[in-house]
Amino acid sequence: MFNNKQWMKEGRNMGEKVPTREEAYELLKKYTKTESLIRHALTVEAVMLHFAELFNADDKEKWGIVGLVHDIDYDMYPEQHCIKAREILEKENWPEDYIRAVQSHGWKICCDVEPVSKMEKVLYTIDELTGLVNATALMMPSKSISDVKLKSVKKKWKQKTFAAGVNREVIAEGAKMLGLDLDTIISETIKGMGTVQLSLAS
Ligand SMILES: [Fe+2]
Repeated sequence: MFNNKQWMKEGRNMGEKVPTREEAYELLKKYTKTESLIRHALTVEAVMLHFAELFNADDKEKWGIVGLVHDIDYDMYPEQHCIKAREILEKENWPEDYIRAVQSHGWKICCDVEPVSKMEKVLYTIDELTGLVNATALMMPSKSISDVKLKSVKKKWKQKTFAAGVNREVIAEGAKMLGLDLDTIISETIKGMGTVQLSLAS
């Protein structure tokens, strides 16, 4: 029989196991060999933790873990992105809410799982945005996030040929879902990214 604590630890269903950050990182490294993808994962984790703090979420670690593994299938299965992720995480007995959150960042692009929770909406919004902020930082002489200002990112936002792979529409739609203006999202994403020290060179 489960006592309450065990029940929470094991997740909603029998067999599901809430992953620790360490387990999540090990799993990420098992499926991701490309260094820039590891850096991206750590960046998204940091931004997720920043927003969890901002929203005073009671499951901050979960926000970080979901951010960390959101692209877990991308290195090995780019053609089945967000689909293979479910398979990988199910094999590890991850709880369903972690799996759906990971999948939902590819809403309308590689799967039909719509971001519903605040955590999912933040992931959906900031995933692409970190790419734009990163590219903006690389234009700075220092190449440092700490020198990136909101104004510079907004300028780059308007230049459609700059970091052309960054889907501005997804970011704008995510901001709308969160009910936050774009300036706030960008400023907080810059702050979140500033909490990790990573080499930006790709
Ligand atoms: Fe991503």
